[in-house]
Formats: sequence, C-alpha cells, structure tokens
Amino acid sequence: MARRKSGPGIDAQPDTGPDFDPEWCERIRGKLVEWYETAHRDLPWRASRDPYRILVSETMLVQTTVTAVVPFFERFITRFPTIRDLANADEADVLKAWEGLGYYRRARQLHAAGQAIVRDHGGVIPDDPDALRALPGVGRYIAGAILSFAFNIPAPILEANTQRVMARWLAWPDDIKSTRSQARLWEAATRVVPTRDPATFNQAFMELGALVCIPRNPMCLTCPVATECRARELGLQDRLPVATPKAAPLEMSEAAIVVVENGRVLMLRRKPGVLWEGFWEFPTVHRDGPDPARRLIDGCVSTEATLEATMGLSLQVGPVVSSLNYVVTKHKVRMDVHFAIKDSGDLKPGPGHVEARWVDRDEFEQLTRSSATRRAVAALLKAGVLTSEGEWGVLAPRKSR
Ligand code: ADE
Repeated sequence: MARRKSGPGIDAQPDTGPDFDPEWCERIRGKLVEWYETAHRDLPWRASRDPYRILVSETMLVQTTVTAVVPFFERFITRFPTIRDLANADEADVLKAWEGLGYYRRARQLHAAGQAIVRDHGGVIPDDPDALRALPGVGRYIAGAILSFAFNIPAPILEANTQRVMARWLAWPDDIKSTRSQARLWEAATRVVPTRDPATFNQAFMELGALVCIPRNPMCLTCPVATECRARELGLQDRLPVATPKAAPLEMSEAAIVVVENGRVLMLRRKPGVLWEGFWEFPTVHRDGPDPARRLIDGCVSTEATLEATMGLSLQVGPVVSSLNYVVTKHKVRMDVHFAIKDSGDLKPGPGHVEARWVDRDEFEQLTRSSATRRAVAALLKAGVLTSEGEWGVLAPRKSR
C-alpha cells in the first residue's frame, strides 16, 4: 500500500507497526490481562458466558453507554430469559422493553435475530462467524464479541473504545472511520487477540478504552501498557485518533398537541417504514426545518388548520405549556407542547399514521412511546398542568386566536 502523510504529520504505514512484532503482542496481552484482574467493573453480562445474554448486551451497548444499559439489560433478561422467549414475543412487547434506550432498529433486529436462530439453528446461537454475521443486526463486532466472550474463540473485536486504543497503540494517523483505517485496525486486532483466553483479553481491551485510554486526556500515567504505546512514545496521545468532525445538527421545531376529551387523550401510531415505526405519539405538527418533506405547513400558518386538514379534527389549541429539546439522527428538534380540546370532526389517522385512538391513563402507559413523548408527559405532570389520576384532565386551554 502507498505511504502518505496524514493526520498529525506522520506517515500512515499499513505494512509496519508494533503488532507485526509477536513479542509486542505478548507483552500487551500479559500486561492488559493482569491489569484487568483487579481493575475491571462487575457488569451483569460479564457474569455469564451465555451467548444469548452476550447478544442482548452487545446489541444494547451499540451507541449506548454502559451506565444507561445496565438497568435495561436486567429488565430485558427478566422479561425474555431465553432466546425462545424473545423469538416468540410480539414485536410490540420487545419494543416496550426497549422503550427509553433509543435506536429502536436494534430492538427489531434483535427480535428478528432471535427468530432466525430458532428457525434456522434450532434455538442455539451458532459459534460460526459466517452464521453469526448472517443474523439481522450482527456485524463483525457483535460476532467477535459472541465468539470470544461466549465460546472463547480467538476472534477480534473493534468498537468505539477499542478502535481508539488501537489507533493510539499504532499511532495510526488517518481518520479512523475511513475504509483503509478500519482494515488496518481490524488487522491489528486480529493479530493481538490471543488463542489462550481471548474472552478475558477482549474484555480487558474494551475496559482499557472505557476507563483509562479515554477520548480526552487519556490517563497514560496509570495505563498498564503506556510503555507499549506508539502515540505516547511520540507524544501524540492527545491528538489521536484522528476523526472527521460531525456536521452540525439541522435545527427543526415542532408542536405536539395534547388533545383531551372526556378524560382521554388522542394518540396516533406511526406508520411502517418511518423513524419510530409503530410508536405512539401526540398529533405533531412539523413547523420549521431544513427538510421540506417533513414540513407539513410552510411557516406554520396555523396549527388548528393543519390538524383539521390532515386529521379531520377541528380543535381549539392552547398556548405552549412546555418545551423540550431532543436530538434524533441529524436533527436537533425543539418540541413545544400545547393542550387542545376538540371542537368537531371525525377522527382519522392522517398520512403519517396507521391508527388513531382515544386512550385513558392506563391505556396510555401500555403504549410504546418515543422518549420525546414520554418526556413531554413528564414535564406536564411536573408542571402540574396535567393530572394523573386515572384519566386525563387539564387546565382548560384558552382559545389561541
Ligand atoms: N461496550 C461494548 N461492549 C461492552 C462490554 N461487553 N463491556 C463493556 N463495555 C462495552
């Protein structure tokens, strides 16, 4: 491969590096595992070699922190103790158990993987890399985690923590997300994983990234492998890895309308094929943003007019009673929450939804809702503008215009 200057002014050399030296690999393994014995955290999924628990925990840990995952993992395993329990469950129940963790595609894929394992592998999670990677949602990282943690097979792993550690060990100067970098880092992870107890080594590798070789101000003074690290040797530990900054999020605003009638609230279920497919939400008007397809009304002519046009309801909409911000994919969204009462009209779901329902408090709790919807309700309850006993009741909304 050609050499070129990159990153902080050093060469990216794909054909050399400390990982080519078997003695370096041996030292890294020994020091890391010795450090791990006393330094590691007791995490619930580490207590078991059950491949099902590893599949569940690693799926949850993609894009979510350990602290956030722990309670969800324990609840999920109590709810679905085996792969068959998961495979036989309704998707809505799986999503309900995932509610609050976000990135719901992971839950759907985990459910589909459970069904594929029952259908194609007799309910036994395979210990073969190709069979694992054929499962929905299982990429190279999750396959490596299952193979090494559950079956003690020397398979490499590389996720956010370990790719940072490896980029520093090698002083790798290219953008870590590039195809070329990924190939190089996986190659090094393959060289470094030992044949003896790869499970402990891979856990230790991740733990070092989580606790010591952290993104900013890595703790080299307490690092068990500082003397083996190229970045540290070159004084580059604070400048590596190189990562292209993310684009600034696109700002949007929307109005969620809490329509109350006879102690019940109007909820809509999102249609298939869209973000938050199958989730229930308040009727929501997308007011402003850079994405014209999501702009139901240009310049927010009138919330009432929009809802009447799209849902067949004529409403009296009150002023904003609460506002919150959330981030989803590339968007930063401000959600203003309004109360409304129905004047007239027959309910129909509108173009983005498949079902509309008036629900009381108990039914509301059973629905799978996006975190923005749950936060909106929590804010209204906290502000005392929504009562929670059995039925929905609100301060009478005043006519907004
Ligand atoms: N991040 C991803 N997988 C992990 C694991 N098994 N333990 C700790 N952090 C992780």
